[in-house]
Amino acid sequence: MRLKDKVTIVTGGAQGLGRAMAERFAEEGAKVVALDMKEAEFDHEAIESRVLDVTDVDACKAVVDSILESYGKIDVLVNNAGITQDAMTKKMTDEQWDKVLNVNLKGVFNLTRHVGPRMEKDGGGAILNISSVVGEYGNIGQANYAASKAGLLGLSKTWAKEFARKGTPVRVNAIAPGYIMTDILKTVPQDLLDKFAGMTMLKRLGEPREIADTAVFLASDEASYITGQTISVNGGMRL
Ligand SMILES: NC(=O)c1ccc[n+]([C@@H]2O[C@H](COP(=O)([O-])OP(=O)(O)OC[C@H]3O[C@@H](n4cnc5c(N)ncnc54)[C@H](O)[C@@H]3O)[C@@H](O)[C@H]2O)c1
Repeated sequence: MRLKDKVTIVTGGAQGLGRAMAERFAEEGAKVVALDMKEAEFDHEAIESRVLDVTDVDACKAVVDSILESYGKIDVLVNNAGITQDAMTKKMTDEQWDKVLNVNLKGVFNLTRHVGPRMEKDGGGAILNISSVVGEYGNIGQANYAASKAGLLGLSKTWAKEFARKGTPVRVNAIAPGYIMTDILKTVPQDLLDKFAGMTMLKRLGEPREIADTAVFLASDEASYITGQTISVNGGMRL
């Protein structure tokens, strides 16, 4: 029960890494609100599912207000919702660029602009931004995605300073996963996935649970002196 009664928002919580984190947080005693464009059902009674498009500026403000009304506080925010729309730079459309930046980067701003100051007012909290190995090292055909995920690293460091500037323990960290088997990889050909696995020191792709375990640690009081950091969870990979 490392997160007992911690009110936690997980965006993109319907499936993949977000779902793994929502379930893992609930196992540790958190009260979880899983936000996603898609409706989702959970077996765990401590997980509530709500529909939210993180690009909808007004809906983000409304959902934060509504969660505060229901739960009285927000202890943890996991900004996990993300998409890919890959193309080589010379072929990338404005729509592909805008869509990925709008969900992956602006979507994180849309929620955190309300949650971060509230955590500061309430005396503390933890914010996790789910970046990527691609944000750390870049990747061919993913200019939009790499820019969005690198942007999250700058945002995390900025918010780690901004929300704690008066000494309030609001901690902001980024997790940079390597390649983890979820739907986001379903368009990646198997030979490329095998190649990515071979590029790790551990010679395999990651499991959603391994990201969720890292998130639990960073959200918990065990990580009370860790802020403004990027934790790479990638089996020892460099792209
Ligand atoms: N799986 C990996 O290998 C990997 C690696 C590095 C980083 N990541 C990052 O981890 C996060 C989760 O990825 P995943 O692998 O679970 O992907 P996924 O596609 O399985 O899940 C993403 C979830 O986000 C939701 N979502 C998409 N757009 C949204 C929006 N506008 N508003 C609300 N919800 C929205 C989707 O409905 C989906 O449930 C993403 O930010 C992704 O970039 C994943």
